[in-house]
Amino acid sequence: MAIEAQNVEKSTITRLPIYQKAGLQHTAALSQARKIYIETYGCQMNVSDSELMAGILTQSGHRTVSHLDDADVVLLNTCAIRENAETKVLNRLKQLNHRKRRDPELIIGVCGCMAQHLRDRLVEAAPYVDLVMGPDAYRNLPMALNAVTNRDPFLGVRLDKSEDYADIAPIRKEGIRAWLTIQRGCDKMCTFCIVPFVRGRERSLPLKLLVEDVEKLVEQGFKEVVLLGQTVNSYRYESQNRENTPTGTSGSDFGELLHAVSNVNGLERVRFTSPHPADATDSMIDAMANSPNVCNHLHLPLQSGSTSVLERMRRTYTAEEYRDLVAKLRERIPNIVLTTDIIVGFCGETEAEFMQTYEMMADIRYDSAFMFKYSDREGTLAHKAFPDDVQETEKGRRLREIIALQEKISAEINDAAIGETFTVLVEGESRRDANRYYGKTDGFKTTVFPMANSAVGDMVDVCIESTTAHTLIGQIVL
Ligand code: SAH
Ligand code: F3S
Repeated sequence: MAIEAQNVEKSTITRLPIYQKAGLQHTAALSQARKIYIETYGCQMNVSDSELMAGILTQSGHRTVSHLDDADVVLLNTCAIRENAETKVLNRLKQLNHRKRRDPELIIGVCGCMAQHLRDRLVEAAPYVDLVMGPDAYRNLPMALNAVTNRDPFLGVRLDKSEDYADIAPIRKEGIRAWLTIQRGCDKMCTFCIVPFVRGRERSLPLKLLVEDVEKLVEQGFKEVVLLGQTVNSYRYESQNRENTPTGTSGSDFGELLHAVSNVNGLERVRFTSPHPADATDSMIDAMANSPNVCNHLHLPLQSGSTSVLERMRRTYTAEEYRDLVAKLRERIPNIVLTTDIIVGFCGETEAEFMQTYEMMADIRYDSAFMFKYSDREGTLAHKAFPDDVQETEKGRRLREIIALQEKISAEINDAAIGETFTVLVEGESRRDANRYYGKTDGFKTTVFPMANSAVGDMVDVCIESTTAHTLIGQIVL
């Protein structure tokens, strides 16, 4: 059973080692310290959740390892967003089963969205799986590891709206960029999407705690923080104690959080992903426009350029409203970099509706886009309400068309950057050339350049001399 923290004033929580939290000692009797390998699939939220799992496991006496060969437990942190994400994990499980035949002591766990989606059906498909743990069950991982027997798999798939892991310190790899989950779950219920069913209702973490987290991350040497949430800009924290909110009134919204985080001393950059267009308030836009260290990059999922498709998707905005939002963003933040997500072949999508998406992409000219064929997910509203009636070959053709369009636009935008100078945060050695560094511009474009006298973590000005499909190449200017 998940331990609930409802009676605690969350504004006062700091991240404690898990066993300092009242009520958890009884799960802590460690029968065996394990070596655990965590393999992460899917989005950044899962990367962040794997860090959380590492925190929970380490604080209970286990140890994470970076190679499967060294592990006696392997946890797959999975994605369920499209069918191929689940197929990939099922194939990986088959490989792990071969290993388990050689080493019957190996514990195999499936965590995350696919675990929540398939539940006991996962154990039917892969009977050698020992643990199935959904996104709200990670607190029970140490207990589940203790309870694993050769007979019954451990199922932890209860969604819990009060579970925000506010008291748990994630374990991150050292680096330049840290991911910080500010909100879990999603209340939007887009008809195509499995997320609300596998991650549950939306809940936000206390503003004060998040600002303290960012202060600690800066102390640890991180230069950039990426705020994460399924609809990150619907963040809203209602303090039970009004004195804890900056305005002293009704709570804090995303703009206030962004503003507060951007004021943390020593933080070079803050980004966030992914916002929902319907929650792109003036408060968010003001924080972006007025705080120099809030990056001028917005990943703003469009999904479709057709209002009728958007209605069937229940996205809650029309194509016109989206266009108006883009116009406003470009007016307030002139050099803003816009990227997006697009789905083609959604239920009932006609050629004319598809062409509206194509034309909208041609008009808006995103810097880049993630583009997908619609994948019917059991459990979603679309699965129940509409037939998945666009042929697979037709989905493929539509996808190829928008990919070709976007590649052309991205290349044109990159070429236009030749001769311009961008401030780049140095992240590390280029994989292809040990004499060069790579880093990101404010707009999240990968940039490669000779090291000169710079060091990892520096902010350097790079003048762009050439480009490849997705990379800017240049020289540091002094
Ligand atoms: N709000 C979240 C969305 C997560 S899903 C975020 O922005 O992080 C990421 C993207 O996957 C969505 O924006 C959508 O374009 C795509 N997607 C979601 N469900 C899908 C489905 N059933 N088929 C195809 N693509 C899907
Ligand atoms: Fe999915 Fe829509 Fe939420 S895409 S994550 S239901 S905003």
